[in-house]
This record gives sequence, structure tokens and C-alpha cells, in this order.
Amino acid sequence: MLQVHDGLQDVLACKSGICRIEMVDGRAILEYRGYDVHDLARNSSFEEVAYLLLFGELPSKSELEAFVEELKELRELPPQIIGLLTHLPPFSHPMVVLRTAISYLGTMDRYIHHKSHEKSLQKAKSLIAKFPTIVAHFHRIRTGQNLIHPSDELNHAANFLYMLHGAEPTKTEAKALDLDLILHADHELNASTFAARIAASTLADIYACVVAATGTLMGPLHGGAAQRVMEMLREIAVPWRAEEYIRMKLESGERIMGFGHRVYRGVMDPRTVELKALAEKLAKEKEEKWFEISKAVEEAVYKYKGLLPNVDFYAASVYANLEIPDDLFINIFALGRIAGWTAHIIEQYETNKLIRPRALYIGETGRKCVPVDRR
Ligand code: CMC
Repeated sequence: MLQVHDGLQDVLACKSGICRIEMVDGRAILEYRGYDVHDLARNSSFEEVAYLLLFGELPSKSELEAFVEELKELRELPPQIIGLLTHLPPFSHPMVVLRTAISYLGTMDRYIHHKSHEKSLQKAKSLIAKFPTIVAHFHRIRTGQNLIHPSDELNHAANFLYMLHGAEPTKTEAKALDLDLILHADHELNASTFAARIAASTLADIYACVVAATGTLMGPLHGGAAQRVMEMLREIAVPWRAEEYIRMKLESGERIMGFGHRVYRGVMDPRTVELKALAEKLAKEKEEKWFEISKAVEEAVYKYKGLLPNVDFYAASVYANLEIPDDLFINIFALGRIAGWTAHIIEQYETNKLIRPRALYIGETGRKCVPVDRR
């Protein structure tokens, strides 16, 4: 007897050795390839985590040096992609631009259909390296600023902030983004990764899979939440207004962005713990108000609805602190998640079974088609 599981809730859709989420003694455990995310947040960099996700092991010092160098060499965009970014309407959402650029990159890959382990890893590294350049270049083009080419001196996170703002970030800012990218790097079968795996299960090329993931991430119930969190924080503007604002929104049946989670129900998302601490630290250093407003919102949502903040909630104030424009927030999520997406696509290619579930038909049956002139 087939059963419908709306939203595929609590369905195990595949086996995977990449990310573990489990509730143990009322606490959520999140591990990448067996390493606790808190441990990785404290003791590694985004580059190490990307390597871990792709290769299954943390790199040795020399492996890391070689990987970092390789990513640096892959950062520059082909002139055709820069031309594309220049021609796209400046009002386009940067996530739409990102997925368009990924698709264009696919047209330039002569070996687009090659899926050997080595070739897939090469494509994955190229996408991880180029994502920040696409996002930063488009932002500077749309705002009429000169392009800042990637710097060989800076790590992945610092280089992105440098290319975006045209000035080197402080150590604190660079570390903040690095931590954020680590925390966003993977999250098991979230909607965008599942979309990537569905595409990969048809043996579509890696660019097609990443376009599917990028399009899916954009929705407000997924990565799109952080941008809307920031819009809410701006509307609230001062901490004392948060409680009334939240009460009214909930009374009118609206969802509060950045709260609730399909997997962490009544349990704190481990990434939120890290991001909240980071947002607090940054707020103290820059004396800004977003953290205080966020805390007031968190208390109000818990009081009126019993919901906990998810990864997108404190990410918003972290990004605002780093002076990242609101409409780039989803792109920042993608800069981290591309590591997980590509690891999952490669895993899907290598353990493939076409993903093709069934639907329970609930429409009419047995109807007769009357020719159009008698309908
Ligand atoms: N605001 C108000 N009520 C909520 C919210 C929210 N953010 N989230 C869940 N609820 C309520 C929902 O109305 C329902 O209540 P009731 O049982 O009274 O009808 C109950 O909580 C269960 O919600 P659900 O929609 O059945 O849960 P779900 O697992 O289908 O949805 C979710 C998960 C993330 C889509 C949802 O919590 C949501 O819409 N959150 C806001 C958007 C958001 O922050 N998304 C980011 C998700 S985490 C990171 C990521 O994936 O990008």
C-alpha cells in the first residue's frame, strides 16, 4: 500500500555519507563527514570544509595548500561571463544572475557531459572558486563601480569581501564570513540539495544540477528567508517595537521569516547557536542595533508561538554587519552551500538510482473528450 508523505516529511530518500543530523538526548547533532559542526567552526576554514565535503577527509597541510592554490587559480571569470554580467539588467535579483551565469559556464565547458570522479571534482572546484567572483562582479557592475579582480593574497571569504567592497576586510570580518560559509556548507537533504540530487539522478550535467539547486534555494521558505529577516528587522527598527510587531504578524496568520524548521522541531539548530554568538560579537565591535532587535524578536516569537530561530535568522544581522546588501544574502548562502551541493551531486552520480517517486492521483477519472465544437 503506497502512502503519501506530504512534503516528504520524515521520508528517508537516499543513503548518504556526507552530512548527519540527529537528535540525541534532546540536542541536535550536526556533522559533516563525521566531524561536529561546532568543532569545524572552531578549528577549520571554509576551504578545509569544502575539501572535507568533496574528498571525505580533512586535508593535510600540504593537501590544503594545494587545494587553496587551485581554488585561487580558478577564481577569475572568462571574459564572456563578465560580458554576460554587464548585459543583464541591473535590477535583476543577484540569485537569478548567479543561476544564469552558472548555466552560461556550462555552455563553455567542452567536457560538460564527462562525469568521471576526477572530472566532476574539477568542475566542483571551479564552481566553488567562481561563485564569489560572479556575485561580487555583478554587484559592482550593477552599482556602476569598477571590477575588483580576485586577490591571490586572500583566502576564500576575505577575497569575496575584498572583491565586493573594494577594500580588504578586517581579520574579524573575514573570519566572520569564513565561519558563516562553514555553517552553510551542507545540510543533508534540504530542498536545494535534494533538487540537485534529483537532477543528478537523471545523469544531467553538473551545471544543470547546480542551476536546479540555485533556483530552489531562492524561495522564501528556504534560503530566501534571510533577506526577508533583514526587511523585518529594518521595519521594526528599535528593540522595544519587536514584541508588538511579532504579536500582530502572528495574529494576522503571517509566518515569521527565520523561524521554524522541518528537522529541528523544538530543538535549537546548532548553526543558530554559532551565528547568534557571532552576531553578538560583531554587534559589540561595531555598536550596531541589529543584534538587539533580533534578540527581542527571538523572545517574542518564542513567547507567542514557541518557535526557535533557524540558520537564516542571525545570519541576517551578521551579513548586515558586514555591510552586505540585503538582496545578496541568499547568494552568500549559496557561496557556502555550493560545496555541499557538488559533494552531493558527485555522491549521487556514483551511487545512482533515478529519483522518481509516485503521486496519489486525486483528480477525476474516465471522462470523455467531446470534440471542441460540441463542448
Ligand atoms: N512563523 C509562524 N508560524 C510558523 C513558522 C513561522 N516561521 N514556521 C512554522 N510555523 C507554524 C506553522 O504555521 C504550523 O502551525 P500550525 O500547526 O498551528 O498550523 C507549524 O508551525 C508547523 O509548520 P509547518 O509549515 O508544518 O512546518 P514545515 O516543516 O512544513 O515548514 C518551514 C518548515 C521552514 C518552511 C517553516 O518553519 C517556515 O515557513 N519558516 C519561515 C521561513 C524560513 O525561515 N525558512 C528558512 C528555513 S531554515 C534554512 C533553510 O532551509 O534555508
